[in-house]
Amino acid sequence: MASLTIRNLDEDIKQNLRERAAQNGHSMEEEMRLILASLDQASEALSPKRSVASVPSLSPFSSEVLEGKRILLIISGGIAAYKSLDLIRRLRERGAHVRPIMTEAAQEFITPLSVGALTADHVYTDFFSREDEQDVGHIRLARECDMIVVAPATANLMAKMAHGRADDLASTVLLATDKPVLIAPAMNPHMWHNKATQRNAKTLSADGIYFVGPESGEMAESGEAGKGRLSETFTIISKMLEILDDRPKPLLGRTAIVTSGPTHEPIDPVRYIANRSSGKQGHAIAAALAELGASVKLISGPVNIPDPVGVDVVKIECAEEMLDTALQLLPCDIAVMVAAVADWRVAGAAGEKIKKKKGQSVPTFDLVENPDILKTVGHNKKRPSLVVGFAAETQNLIDNATAKLNKKGADMIVANDVSPETGIMGGDRNRVRIVAHDGVDKWPDLSKEEVAMRLAKLVAQKLSELSV
Ligand SMILES: Cc1cc2nc3c(=O)[nH]c(=O)nc-3n(C[C@H](O)[C@H](O)[C@H](O)COP(=O)(O)O)c2cc1C
Repeated sequence: MASLTIRNLDEDIKQNLRERAAQNGHSMEEEMRLILASLDQASEALSPKRSVASVPSLSPFSSEVLEGKRILLIISGGIAAYKSLDLIRRLRERGAHVRPIMTEAAQEFITPLSVGALTADHVYTDFFSREDEQDVGHIRLARECDMIVVAPATANLMAKMAHGRADDLASTVLLATDKPVLIAPAMNPHMWHNKATQRNAKTLSADGIYFVGPESGEMAESGEAGKGRLSETFTIISKMLEILDDRPKPLLGRTAIVTSGPTHEPIDPVRYIANRSSGKQGHAIAAALAELGASVKLISGPVNIPDPVGVDVVKIECAEEMLDTALQLLPCDIAVMVAAVADWRVAGAAGEKIKKKKGQSVPTFDLVENPDILKTVGHNKKRPSLVVGFAAETQNLIDNATAKLNKKGADMIVANDVSPETGIMGGDRNRVRIVAHDGVDKWPDLSKEEVAMRLAKLVAQKLSELSV
């Protein structure tokens, strides 16, 4: 459960809490505990199947970027306003200070008490509040932050921003700021697709306002589906990290393709041959290359993990589709082939489901070899400047990896022992050896994200050596 010290609360909020506690016959501590418990329940019920807290490893940008950052969060009056409470909590978990502004309409959906309790800061609501103006003032509010996030952003607030209106605190601050502004629109699909909203979105983009979402999906209020959902908390945070991240980007201007996950080779329309690859390592590598500035296309087989943010994902099923996609994406600077591509497929997969028939013997299948994607890319006339392959072996790791390096036209092979006792296949850690033409480097036991970042940095170093 979230925790919070009442002593640190703003006076207004304390007073509000005092009144609410008295009305309900609780102590202030009890009342606060109940509010936080209900927020926890709401956020759990509203979370997508995967928990937001479990996703950050797939972000191409490190959460440390948020430590100590001052975020001015503007909450406008849409049905998704309640999701801003989860956003506040996740930002504070990552060390950010969140200063909230709520529009008048936002207060119809969630209370300043909840927002203030979670931010532990004063909630700015009133344009003409003498107290607020003396305390910080709209110009200082606009400037004393590292970025402004509007989540959710209503069609109305977007329209005001696009036209330079300043008729309340939120719109005035947005007009007065010189900081990066990220907006997360959320509205009914008809409102989003309305020509006026689209015109405003275009204007705001051209004005340098960053966007995250809206996403497609079901609308909370009406059961309607379409584009207009607020982006998930983690997606908003990832976009914030991308904007705030000012670390060096040695792969800026470079293009990369990464393959990841297993392939599914059809037997018939419902059955397939597959392997145990989870896609965790390949997805993490795509994210790490993007974090270092590369423009990354991830060709992913069927996996049960979320797409890395900041990366273009092309989803495929079988080896032949993976190869076609990889070839279409050439030329590029970097290819990292991590996918566990099935070596064989069934010759002439059945077009209809194969039925079990009484008295008939079990079906047998002929297998044919799948294309060798690493070799095809490694020997292609549009070969990327740097080709990295993966060798998942259960025996003779280095010998097999060295043979692969030479045969496939790769610059490096990342060799890992996937014997069941290592727990690497599907697990979160990896122990790899980098087999290159100039020798073998043994890396320690690392998380898959750490392997990914180390590899991305090595790729950047090798590419810079090639360009001198
Ligand atoms: C129940 C209800 C739900 C609403 N949901 C949204 C919404 O999701 N997105 C939106 O742009 N407007 C929505 N509106 C309309 C806004 O509340 C309205 O345009 C308001 O003026 C926005 O004010 P603000 O932009 O100052 O916050 C909703 C209105 C109601 C009554």
